[in-house]
Amino acid sequence: MEEIMRPLGVTQQEAIETWLTTLKNRFRPHYTLENISGGHDEPHVGRMETLYDEINPLLGNVVDRSEFVAAGWLHNVDRSRSLHEEVEKVGLEQYCRGILKTSPFSSESQNRIAVAVREHINKPAAASDGPLTLALKTADAIDRFNAVGVLSIAAHRGSKLPIYDLEKPFGFTGVEEQDLKTLYHDFMRVTSWYSHLFSDEARELANKYGFRTFIGFIRWLATDIARFTNQPNTVEQDLAVALGPYYSSF
Ligand SMILES: [Fe+2]
Repeated sequence: MEEIMRPLGVTQQEAIETWLTTLKNRFRPHYTLENISGGHDEPHVGRMETLYDEINPLLGNVVDRSEFVAAGWLHNVDRSRSLHEEVEKVGLEQYCRGILKTSPFSSESQNRIAVAVREHINKPAAASDGPLTLALKTADAIDRFNAVGVLSIAAHRGSKLPIYDLEKPFGFTGVEEQDLKTLYHDFMRVTSWYSHLFSDEARELANKYGFRTFIGFIRWLATDIARFTNQPNTVEQDLAVALGPYYSSF
C-alpha cells in the first residue's frame, strides 16, 4: 500500500483510522467467498472485532483497539486463494510486516501486530504471548464456538474432508491441522482450544457464546456417526482428550 503522509493537524489516531479503512478496502475483495472459504471470510473478521470489548477487560484493558483491528484483518491473509502465492513467497509474518510498514503505527505497534498474526496459529496461550497476541487467539477461538462458527468449520473443512471415517470414526489423540483426516476430528481439534484459552474468565466468555451447546452438538453428531458406521461410540474418550482438565465440567 502507498505510504500515507500525515497532513499537518491530523492526529496519529486519525491517521491510523484512515489507514485501517484503506487496509479493509484493500483486503475486502480477498475475503469474499470467491477467494476464501466460509470460516475465514470478512464476517469472521467482523465478529472477532466485536469481541474486543469483552476480551480487552480480561487482559487489563491494555490492548489497543486499532492494533487489534489491524491484527484481525491481517490474521487470515494466507487463507485467501487470491493472496496465497504472494504471502507464501515471504511468509505470513514478513508479508504483514511489509503491509504494516506503510502504516502510521509506531514500530513497536507494528511489531506487536506482526507477532500476534504469526503466533495466533499456535492456539495454546504461551507465557511469552503479549496481550495483543492473547486477544487475537481468544477472539479467533471463541468465534468458532458459536453456531455460525460451527457451521463455518463444517463449510471450510467439510468441503475438503469427509465428515467421518467409515472404519475408524473415533479415536482423537490430538492432531495438527495439516494432518486432519475428517471433519469430526476437526471439531475435536477446535474443542481442544477451550483448554488453551488464557484464563477461566476467557473460558466463561466461550461458555457465554455457546461452547456447551457446541459440545452437545458433537455428542449428537457422534451418536449418528456410531449408528451410521456401526462402530462403538467412544466420543466421551475423545472429549476427555480434547477438553483435558475441563472435561468434568461438561
Ligand atoms: Fe481466523
